[in-house]
Amino acid sequence: MAAWQVFAYIAASILFITGLKMLSRPETARRGNRLSAVGMLIAVVATLAAGGLDYTWILVGLVIGAAVGAVAARRVQMTGMPEMVALLNGSGGLASMLVGWAEFVRATDVATFSAVAIVLTVLIGGIAASGSVVAFGKLSERIDGKPYLFRGQKTLNAALLALALAAAGFVVADAVVAGGVGGTALAFALVLLLALALGVLAVIPIGGADMPIVVALLNSYSGLAAAAAGFVIDNNVLVVAGSLVGASGFILTMIMCKAMNRSLANVLFGGFGATITAGTAPQQGVVKPLSAEDAYFILEAADSVVFVPGYGMAVAQAQHVVQELAELLSKNGADVRHAIHPVAGRMPGHMNVLLAEANVPYEQLVEPEDVNPAMETIDVAIVIGANDVVNPAAKEDPASPLYGMPIIEVDRARTCFVLKRSMNPGFAGVDNSLFFKDNTRMIFGDAKATITAMVAAFKEA
Ligand code: TAP
Repeated sequence: MAAWQVFAYIAASILFITGLKMLSRPETARRGNRLSAVGMLIAVVATLAAGGLDYTWILVGLVIGAAVGAVAARRVQMTGMPEMVALLNGSGGLASMLVGWAEFVRATDVATFSAVAIVLTVLIGGIAASGSVVAFGKLSERIDGKPYLFRGQKTLNAALLALALAAAGFVVADAVVAGGVGGTALAFALVLLLALALGVLAVIPIGGADMPIVVALLNSYSGLAAAAAGFVIDNNVLVVAGSLVGASGFILTMIMCKAMNRSLANVLFGGFGATITAGTAPQQGVVKPLSAEDAYFILEAADSVVFVPGYGMAVAQAQHVVQELAELLSKNGADVRHAIHPVAGRMPGHMNVLLAEANVPYEQLVEPEDVNPAMETIDVAIVIGANDVVNPAAKEDPASPLYGMPIIEVDRARTCFVLKRSMNPGFAGVDNSLFFKDNTRMIFGDAKATITAMVAAFKEA
């Protein structure tokens, strides 16, 4: 490899790492994304400029891929982002799988290490490719989002995985003994087909609402497959980029599991959402409904207000009117903050993205641990279409599936408004005792309509 190419690969790797680091803060995320994209451009140009290639098919692929990518990125709605990411992961996995396949067909004398890299690329890439297609189908509701469970499912998956590993071992053994993988086409085909089958079988038992976690995990797999492909074709920058994706995807998966107080095994094998689990704590007290107009009088006198957005705010698309109300409250002298739970909504950063779209200042966004200790001093907590992330059962009811999940403790605020359309439970299917607390007022209706009415009351006053 020429010195300039090594230098270009190092520059690209530095840009990937710096860009990834910048993604961890909303203020720097856009720049981080652009920086990583520049890194990728440098890596692609340096690879293509190295020469010795037939550019015809590469150009055809570039044009088609760039056109599809640009149109899809422009068209996708913010709420459609997880399914778009699923498709991109799937493409990454498929690309790596094809690299492994091509190398298997092309190579005549393969060292043991390369044979291992080839089978790993095909195995992990195949699982990421077909698993991502199922995840896309579930997220976009093209296929049923319910967990698909059947008797002996785990045994079947374990047996197929064992068979795939045995076939992979056969391919590697051939490379060791015969110095090539040419005589093992059947075993190789088995690895490829079983990988594709395993991707489907691993994702169908997982509920649609758990898909964002699975997408993060598949993202990690596609990174690992790319890193393995990097070893197959001896390309360092692919190894670096793949490892970064693999590691960051896995970290994101674990962060989401931790915020939901569930183990990865529970997400992957628990079939969460297959049955609705009612809360065990008896619901006591009476529900105290309030109108948006009456809520205005309490808000008008409030010195401190905390908004707690959840999935319902995304459904109602209420973020712009929330910001309008927040500005009116600030002008009225109240200290306003937005408390964001790490798993509020249905995708990582869901609430941050929506509030950023409505130009909510970053400094008003706080995390549960920032707001919980002083919750007693908050005059009004306004829960906008959030349910599980404010459910006191997570603290009070050891029998609840939510038990142990950190929540935003709005039940301890002086007054709590809960904006939702009905008494229905949230994603976890668990009743919420918050709705019956003395300091809670339920404001029923679409969140956007309710907040619009509050804004109107402020403007009329
Ligand atoms: P949820 O517990 O899902 O509750 C959302 C609530 O919004 C519902 O109770 C619903 O009540 C209400 N709602 C729906 N449409 C509305 C509208 N137009 N106006 C007003 N309210 C509306 O939401 P959450 O508190 O954000 O919790 C998120 C849940 O998803 C957690 O259990 C979390 O573990 C899970 N999850 C999160 C992620 C990520 S990464 N964020 C990924 C997978 C799963 P009504 O029907 O009565 O209106």
